[in-house]
Amino acid sequence: MKGIFITFEGIDGSGKSTQAKYLQTFLESNQIDVIMTREPGGTKVAEKIRQILLDKQNIELSGRAELLLYLASRAQHTVEIIEPALNDGKWVISDRFTDSSIAYQGCARGLGMEMTKKLSLFATGGIKPDLTFYLDISPQRASERLNIQGKTLDRLEVEQQEFYDMVRQGYKWIAEQEPHRFIQIPGDRPPQKVWESIKKELLDRFGQYVHPL
Ligand code: ADP
Ligand code: TYD
Repeated sequence: MKGIFITFEGIDGSGKSTQAKYLQTFLESNQIDVIMTREPGGTKVAEKIRQILLDKQNIELSGRAELLLYLASRAQHTVEIIEPALNDGKWVISDRFTDSSIAYQGCARGLGMEMTKKLSLFATGGIKPDLTFYLDISPQRASERLNIQGKTLDRLEVEQQEFYDMVRQGYKWIAEQEPHRFIQIPGDRPPQKVWESIKKELLDRFGQYVHPL
């Protein structure tokens, strides 16, 4: 049997990594073989591309070059990590995937959401997530969290609030297009509450493989 591909989406600081880890632990407790990965990155080549993308020095990077680098990173990540794992029957969790490009480059950078979706399908050879959890939160709350954490902000995180408002609009567009796959989860709640919502959706979809424990 082919494995199952689950992605997490949301603006920076929305809590994706935290929830992805909860999911990994939960699936492993259900004796499921899980691969946890992230974008941009996930492979040696893709991690190098990540350094270019997140480096604040690279202010001259054009919107199109930015998109193509994210897609190049994704193409390598898909062929090297995601596809083989799914073919082996493993479950794959990725912190970001195609929807990030649609929201950040397609919508917020104004490159076009349909176009970005098509280019990303080319990059992945047609691979799409089976299920996506989108953690919805206001840019203000998310940036408060990153400030508390005292994180050094990368090239995208230094963007202004209007940029993140546009990213959020991009995510809303995806939610309208694909409501069955792209599940909106209110993110401005304690981590455990957010996880309860995610777990419920997961059990509704994949109750034949996972149990509440
Ligand atoms: P992302 O991967 O989306 O950037 P993280 O999971 O790394 O987000 O969380 C960003 C920061 O917010 C971290 O300091 C984390 O501990 C904190 N955090 C995560 N989830 C929540 C939550 N539900 N409520 C409050 N703070 C949270
Ligand atoms: P990262 O630190 O991995 O994400 P997060 O802050 O959510 O933990 O940084 C990745 C950055 O790249 C993030 O700002 C979103 C952005 N991004 C895009 O703009 N397009 C994409 O296709 C992807 C995958 C990420």
